[in-house]
Amino acid sequence: MTDFTPLFVADRGQKARPIHLVDKDSFAGWAKKRPAEDRALLEAHRFDGKSGFDFVLLPRGGDFEVVSAVKNTAELSPWCLAALGEKLPEGTYKLAEGEPGNAALGWLLAQHKFDDFRSKKKDEPERGPRVLVTGEPARVDETVRLAEATVLVRDLVNTPAMQLGPAEIEKAVRDEASRTGAQVKVISGKDLVEGFPLIASVGAAATPERAPRLIELEWGKSDHPRLAVVGKGVVFDSGGLDLKPASGMRLMKKDMGGAAHALALARLIMAQKLPVRLHLLIPAVENAVSADAYRPGDIVKSRKGLFVEIDNTDAEGRLILADALAKAVEGKPELIVDFATLTGAARIALGPDLPAMFANRDDLAGSLESSAREVEDPVWRMPLWEPYEEMLKSDIADMANASSSPMAGSITAAMFLKKFVPDEIPWAHFDTYAWRDAAKPGRPKGGDALGLRVVFAALKERYLHA
Ligand code: BES
Ligand code: ZN
Ligand code: ZN
Repeated sequence: MTDFTPLFVADRGQKARPIHLVDKDSFAGWAKKRPAEDRALLEAHRFDGKSGFDFVLLPRGGDFEVVSAVKNTAELSPWCLAALGEKLPEGTYKLAEGEPGNAALGWLLAQHKFDDFRSKKKDEPERGPRVLVTGEPARVDETVRLAEATVLVRDLVNTPAMQLGPAEIEKAVRDEASRTGAQVKVISGKDLVEGFPLIASVGAAATPERAPRLIELEWGKSDHPRLAVVGKGVVFDSGGLDLKPASGMRLMKKDMGGAAHALALARLIMAQKLPVRLHLLIPAVENAVSADAYRPGDIVKSRKGLFVEIDNTDAEGRLILADALAKAVEGKPELIVDFATLTGAARIALGPDLPAMFANRDDLAGSLESSAREVEDPVWRMPLWEPYEEMLKSDIADMANASSSPMAGSITAAMFLKKFVPDEIPWAHFDTYAWRDAAKPGRPKGGDALGLRVVFAALKERYLHA
């Protein structure tokens, strides 16, 4: 993995090329104070301070300075330095005015590529690092950790299902635990069938090497408030016997994106030593097709005791989450957060960039919304609309896992989960895409963390400042 530590460092007076950030309001005043050569060059480039234009290099006695247009110099977005971090030549840089703050994240992320599966082209020399210095050394560590957590999500999601089965997710959790002294417990085989029947059912069709399991990690002092973090870990979602069409299946290696978010969040919590007792739960399964596959019409008694009729084997995420949530609840947590690539309907409603957020408390939703604005990791609240619960009625069981109506798909999925979380426990559920269909600066096409930074920011607020 990319080592971000050397790329964002404290200002100790080292030589650094200045980067001038301008916006459409400040550009004219700034340009007036530049040498005539600069103005001529900027004019030749038709650089007018409007964002969207990357940057211009201004020659300075054998070296250069940089000018770049951003939307608003007073409020730097996390992504406004990403194009620079990606394209500038090797070397050390520093903002001519102000500090990068949030924007250092994009600078770092622009320098990470998922190239595990590219044979290196020998005649293409690798470009050296682009280092950014800051006068706010206190922000360095956390920025680096956010970048690391983000690429953890991206790399796990990008890794093909062939290389990333339930065992590899388990290994990823064990790797995190070994760095922090956290405890890991994995339930599989007969214990899974008995204790977590929904997880076992969804994973029943997989080959023995890719057997379903529940991976649990526990960390932190016992007298700290208990926080449960749950993530959907479907390593590949073929749809099961209700097989997806080719177009719907193509990206389904990313169906463990919720697990990747949950694990990355756990890493951030442990690195920051948040005063919580963390309980991470990742049900890891492959939704495959075989004679052992669970079937439409099957009825499974969940861990909680509710009988669930399988209406559609492609609504598997909510099934594995249900048993994991039930287990989380048994620990009497003070808060539960879950992440899942749960429904196509959430994407229809909000598009790829905006995770749907469901919360059973207005204050929890409010704090997540304000954190989302603060760290520019947007989420949009959707309702836990009680009347739609009846769309999950079964003729012969307590409930069905899917509705016969195509309407309100992300809400009915959330209502299904809600059955497994008692009202007394604050709970937030994120239905995220975990993917980027088109590249943006610092955000290549492929797996991405959507909703990770906002939750971490809200947790810091809740446990450090409240
Ligand atoms: N993993 C999918 C949801 C998904 C699809 C997320 C596409 C992102 C992009 C999930 O398991 C699923 O298949 N959900 C079904 C539920 C339906 C059968 C009730 C869906 O959303 O169509
Ligand atoms: Zn599915
Ligand atoms: Zn799925």
